Amino acid sequence: MTVRAAVIGTGIMGAEHARLLERQVSGVVVTGAFDVDTERCRQAVAGMPSARVFSDPIELIFDPGIDAVVIASADLTHERFALAAIAAGKPVLCEKPLAPDIAGCERILAAEVAAGRRLVSVGFMRRFDPGHRQLKQVLAGGDIGTALLMHCVHRNRSAPAGHEFDAARWLLDDELATVTVHRPRSSRRSSPTADPLFLVVESSAGALVDIEVFLNCGYGYEVRCEVVGEDGTVFLDAPAATATRGAAGISRSLAEDWRPRFAEAYRCELQEWIDSVAAGAVSCLASTWDGYAATAAAQAGVAALDSGRAEPVRLPPRPELYGAELYGAEVHGAEVHGAVQA
Ligand SMILES: NC(=O)c1ccc[n+]([C@@H]2O[C@H](COP(=O)([O-])OP(=O)(O)OC[C@H]3O[C@@H](n4cnc5c(N)ncnc54)[C@H](O)[C@@H]3O)[C@@H](O)[C@H]2O)c1
Repeated sequence: MTVRAAVIGTGIMGAEHARLLERQVSGVVVTGAFDVDTERCRQAVAGMPSARVFSDPIELIFDPGIDAVVIASADLTHERFALAAIAAGKPVLCEKPLAPDIAGCERILAAEVAAGRRLVSVGFMRRFDPGHRQLKQVLAGGDIGTALLMHCVHRNRSAPAGHEFDAARWLLDDELATVTVHRPRSSRRSSPTADPLFLVVESSAGALVDIEVFLNCGYGYEVRCEVVGEDGTVFLDAPAATATRGAAGISRSLAEDWRPRFAEAYRCELQEWIDSVAAGAVSCLASTWDGYAATAAAQAGVAALDSGRAEPVRLPPRPELYGAELYGAEVHGAEVHGAVQA
């Protein structure tokens, strides 16, 4: 079966997803696209002969010529399109965040649980990055023993991002319990918000995760991660495949932004998603529950920035109400969440 896919929101990410689907992912053809900026949408799918530019996103979602939908529009619009896709019974790959607030994520969870099957996948593409997959393999293999600490660095030349909460949950196989945010002295480029920030996250099982988020580091894009276990550590090595010797030094180049750094991850993520759609199987991408848990951690981070204290990550008091059965392994330590009041 060739999957007929559509993209809603054809900005930087949506145009890239459309390009990858049409040119680098097998078993799929782009048959539709929508953006409130029609011209931008036309340009994104120019040269894709089967792609129709829709004038209404809900019409696109329900169109019989569309089997699956990528949501890559602005954050605040994700919930509306995800709910429409669930109502239409169509698989959807929603860019992160699932929704910017917990209430929106809960409405999507409730709709999916009511539908009785998993239709929504969330675009936490680090799960498909070869380096992150090797980290996961080493941890799962028990080579470094129980994970005790995780050190994360996310530096960006100029724009924000927020994948660390999902990476920590996924790599540690654990939910996040509390978030504290420290503000060191701010960079001169930090206007209007404090930058960098230093987060300390405690997992339900007691591992500590520190996350440096430096959005205006000024020199390039860099993601680092090291997990410290009882018997060793595992870390992401330099992503560049080559180094240059010259001028009495050795240098490696860094990506300008996230697209080249995670190009392979985006491609693999889309391929896995399309393969699961074609097979009528549950996608192995991050689930609605994962998207919900990441937003809950982010919300705790916002509260912690205001309060200066450790803030609890508020997950539903009774996860079974939100489909523990449907999400299975993604719901880590349900009995721990039972103690957290929503
Ligand atoms: N997974 C990742 O690594 C990653 C990286 C960057 C961005 N993102 C996410 O992808 C999404 C898009 O980010 P971007 O960087 O491409 O932003 P962007 O501003 O380049 O593109 C967003 C597009 O959405 C369109 N849009 C806004 N409202 C819309 C609506 N109601 N209906 C349809 N289209 C609408 C805009 O016209 C624009 O073209 C965001 O949710 C962002 O958080 C994910």
